[in-house]
Amino acid sequence: MNDAASPPVSAKPVKDLSRAEAETELARLADAIAEADRLYHLEDAPELTDAEYDGLRRRNQAIEERFPGLKRTDSPSERVAPGPAEGFAKVRHVRPMLSLANAFDSEDVREFERRVRRFLNLRDDEPVALMAEPKIDGLSASLRYENGRLVQGATRGDGTEGENITRNLETLNDIPRNLPAGVPSVLEVRGEVYMTKEDFVALNERQAEAGAKIFANPRNAAAGSLRQLDPEITRSRPLRFFAYSWGEISEDFADSHHTFLGKLESWGFTTNPLSKLCGTVDEALAVYADIGERRHDLSYDIDGVVYKVDRIDWQQRLGMVSRAPRWAIAHKFKAEQAETVLREIDIQVGRTGALTPVARLEPVKVGGVTVTNATLHNEDEIRRKDIRVGDTVVIQRAGDVIPQVVRVIVEKRPAGSQEYAFPEHCPRCGSEARRPEGEAIRRCTGGLVCPAQAVERLKHFVSRDAFDIEGLGAKQIETYYNDGLIDRPGSVFRLKQHRRTLIGREGTKIVSTDKLLAAIEGRRTIGLDRFIFALGIRQVGQATARLLATHYGTLDALRQAMAAAADPESEAYADLINIDQIGSAVAKDLIDFFAEPHNGEVLDDLDNELSIEAFEAPTLAADSPVAGKTVVFTGTLQTMGRSEAKARAESLGAKVAGSVSKKTDYVVVGADAGSKAAKAEALGVRILSEEDWVALIDG
Ligand code: IVH
Repeated sequence: MNDAASPPVSAKPVKDLSRAEAETELARLADAIAEADRLYHLEDAPELTDAEYDGLRRRNQAIEERFPGLKRTDSPSERVAPGPAEGFAKVRHVRPMLSLANAFDSEDVREFERRVRRFLNLRDDEPVALMAEPKIDGLSASLRYENGRLVQGATRGDGTEGENITRNLETLNDIPRNLPAGVPSVLEVRGEVYMTKEDFVALNERQAEAGAKIFANPRNAAAGSLRQLDPEITRSRPLRFFAYSWGEISEDFADSHHTFLGKLESWGFTTNPLSKLCGTVDEALAVYADIGERRHDLSYDIDGVVYKVDRIDWQQRLGMVSRAPRWAIAHKFKAEQAETVLREIDIQVGRTGALTPVARLEPVKVGGVTVTNATLHNEDEIRRKDIRVGDTVVIQRAGDVIPQVVRVIVEKRPAGSQEYAFPEHCPRCGSEARRPEGEAIRRCTGGLVCPAQAVERLKHFVSRDAFDIEGLGAKQIETYYNDGLIDRPGSVFRLKQHRRTLIGREGTKIVSTDKLLAAIEGRRTIGLDRFIFALGIRQVGQATARLLATHYGTLDALRQAMAAAADPESEAYADLINIDQIGSAVAKDLIDFFAEPHNGEVLDDLDNELSIEAFEAPTLAADSPVAGKTVVFTGTLQTMGRSEAKARAESLGAKVAGSVSKKTDYVVVGADAGSKAAKAEALGVRILSEEDWVALIDG
């Protein structure tokens, strides 16, 4: 493995490495393994033999075992699923593939049911039947059938856009290629691709014999098997599929989820046999308890139970919020725990300067995955739990959540241990770290001079829900920043000026550089909502970014409005605060961001490099009678809950505001309306009864 073609790793035996050498070696191995993974998974062009590749991994493992404190955050032993595949074509989901909100205890589930009732404005004695289904720990996939023939299979991707993996999905026995006559002419069936525990063990044995990659758990094995560029490899892997939902359909074919599952069965799909229709929340919780007890005897991994409102007309009314349906929730199983030693506390600096303590742990297996880091949240958390370096701690991991330190086992505390003193200066730039009254978080005050913040902002800028630039991950951002190739968001779009330098880097190939540069070029056009999110303004997540994009339409309008809103007496300020869900705290962060001269320069710079598209309102909305209108609801509505009214209005392109102003177009008054109705009258705003409103939107 040390011939000229293999990566330049030192040949020194692990036992002879000094700490400093080990550190350099781990960095080199991380790079070499990442590059090998990329070539193997994404380009289907491995340059190392399997034995050479395993050699690199074993060496990495051995060094990490000798120097656990040196284990990198991007350690190859922690990295599981391969990165985004570049070899698959993109597929846009006509109906987004949603994720699920989580419930962690039965009270969360009861609250979910109450929320559903409130939203639909149901009488207390009206039963809400729920379907309880195991939550399969696999990968979701969408299968599109046209006239009964499978024409496309796709991954979830970011929910809006996935990858076309039709040829791979076709190889699964559980996935019919043709459906019987009578199915809707367009039918997207969605479900979970998974591998059984037994098949996973057998696959790893075969992989080990062949000197090939060993998978950490069945989910990763399923992911790795599905994302093969060669479908024959997928065919050789024992993948299975449970169907549980649908995407685009040309006609309705069921009025309840349980009859839908029955239809799926009759069409040749496999649905989960443990799924159960429950008349009440209590019944649903009993199913959870039962499945939880049998969990370890099941032949496949599950990580909870999903409850779905059974009536499909109700599902439709409930709709979705921030990429998750209001009509379903995932009740997660309790986290798995383990005991280990905390070796160090590191302080990470986030993009808004927040100092976050991270526990570096003696590696330990929890729920099938080796854990080396855990979050400690903030300084109060450390003090409250009295967590000290050298302590033996209980850690837990739940689903994809970052592992946490639950408690210290004080009896095992080494003698002479010291209480942890949280730093009062930024570990990266040395600036004072201040903690405002009443806040839990201490922040570096270095702002623009702090390199850690700059790098984190750049990482956020290119991340998946922002600019989503393939091939430009956290690691590259860090290197390019340190080498002075990028320093501000706009400079990402000038990276092509450094093509030669990039190509000249150790281990970098011309093709991969050009691929990266092409990926960057491909992102010069971006929607305003993503753009706003990418700026990384404090408290402005995807949902708020979307609200702002819808409200202001263009970047210029947004910038002008934020400048004007600096005056709290201005109409611009009132207008901003009036956007539902934007309160004074978010408004302050927005105004501060746009008032900062450096941010102005960053925006001008980006504006030059990019074409920012006005926010695309949902298609339904364009010709709706209330598109672009501002509506205020007040009083108690009879036919629907307040949230449903609001969601309906928004889906038709209206803006829903919390208070009445000159800009309000309609005030919809329900029973017992108070001052808002009076104010509308005074301002001459059009007042509608609930009936008028329903007639207007349905008419
Ligand atoms: S329903 C609109 N049902 O869990 C409904 N999802 O955390 C969306 N999952 O992305 C999904 N088992 O990959 C549903 N019985 C089940 C499921 C299930 C597993 C996955 C699915 C989804 C994720 C959300």
